[in-house]
Amino acid sequence: MPYLQLFAASIPLSALILIRFMHFNYGQALLQAAGIVGSFLAGLWTSMIIYRAFFHHLNKFPGPWPLKLTKFSQLISLWGLDGFPLGDYEARITNYTHELLEKISTFSGKPMNASAWFNYFSFDVMGDFAFGKSFNMLKTGRMHFAIQWLESSMILLGLFSPISWAIPIGAIAPIVGRNFRRFIHWCAEQVDERRLSEPKVPDVTSWLLKAAEDRGDREATKWLHGDSRLLIVAGSDTVAIVLTHLSYYLAINPTHVHKLREELEPLMRRGGQPFSVRDVQNAKHLNAVINETLRMHPPVPSGVFRTTPKQGIIVDGVFVPGGANVTVPFYVIGRSGECFVRPNEFIPERWYSQPELVKEKDAHAPFSLGPYGCIGKQLALMEIRTVVSLLISRFDVKLAPGEDGGKFLGNSRDAFTLRMENLNLVFEERKAA
Ligand code: HEM
Repeated sequence: MPYLQLFAASIPLSALILIRFMHFNYGQALLQAAGIVGSFLAGLWTSMIIYRAFFHHLNKFPGPWPLKLTKFSQLISLWGLDGFPLGDYEARITNYTHELLEKISTFSGKPMNASAWFNYFSFDVMGDFAFGKSFNMLKTGRMHFAIQWLESSMILLGLFSPISWAIPIGAIAPIVGRNFRRFIHWCAEQVDERRLSEPKVPDVTSWLLKAAEDRGDREATKWLHGDSRLLIVAGSDTVAIVLTHLSYYLAINPTHVHKLREELEPLMRRGGQPFSVRDVQNAKHLNAVINETLRMHPPVPSGVFRTTPKQGIIVDGVFVPGGANVTVPFYVIGRSGECFVRPNEFIPERWYSQPELVKEKDAHAPFSLGPYGCIGKQLALMEIRTVVSLLISRFDVKLAPGEDGGKFLGNSRDAFTLRMENLNLVFEERKAA
């Protein structure tokens, strides 16, 4: 800071010297002084850039070129001036949300299967992000054939997960693994097709391709095929599961709808401006209903496996030997009385105004933690916040006649992600909306 102050003072100081000793007038003195300081800066920056580009001791590390030269380039990308992807993701998510709401509105108060429609929404979004094109399930109101293949494979994945060594065998088995292979093949085709035409607005594949190019990765195609599948599997069901369960709780407990409206409506009233998820991202009750849904219905109920280190680990005083597969099941933890008071009750307020109902805050990690934790957490939250905010501003929600949620809650199965049973809900357009 003192250097900056000194530097800022150097122009008027030089000007004063020029006026006093060389008899310049004010204008000439200032111009001359600015010229001297400008030449000094130009020389300094040029030598710094040459040094950083060719001689710096960290110069060999791979990374974007502009970042080697100046950290300002990072600032520009963080501020979104070079097309930072989140702004674009937000627009796409809002568009798909509007498409979903239009579909809901066509049911004009008749029952609809919320499990299916939230799935159509979340798969369309991920199709767009992974392959640059939607699965068009919201448009057609039907499950895309590739997603049917995936769904049938996921059921098998869930069944076999206790004997995980059987999964690769199942994947190559003639009949059992057929649909999984079809899905893999189809995803690979989409990626290859997508690679032939770069979309105007970058999608996730653009970033994966760029990363592969920067690394000079010859195996890029193999990884890209795998990543595209991973994105669809990891990013679609999960979001739909949260949206469906959350809607169930709103349907059986309208108090939360009222609370959400009270909280969100002032935030969303932006003088004719279109909805922006940024306006609601810190809304306490909104985030609390999302957290409470994730606690009670984690989309990956059994969690993910980790192998213990060679020397083993001690968990709660119990020694677990090295090389063992262990997991922390999110569902069990979320329902544990040791971690949460009244664990089987949906009480979003525990996440802000009633913290005494949370005994172990750290026990809540539905996106998992650490270097392998979910990379899509922020995207997922963006989707869920957008849908919930826009949905409840336009519709009232209740259970369809004959629906009590019993089958939905009781019969949905753990198949790595949760396989949801149907949930029939009625969304009625609000008169005031
Ligand atoms: C509510 C929604 C979601 C939940 C609850 C969730 C949860 C999880 C969990 C528990 C994992 C395992 C992490 C681990 O092994 O430690 C995971 C991984 C992953 N998730 Fe999500 N996820 C959600 C949404 C998304 C979305 C929208 C995307 C899309 C970009 C996504 C992409 C991924 C990917 C690519 C991985 C694998 C990361 C890796 O292996 O390094 N997820 N997610």
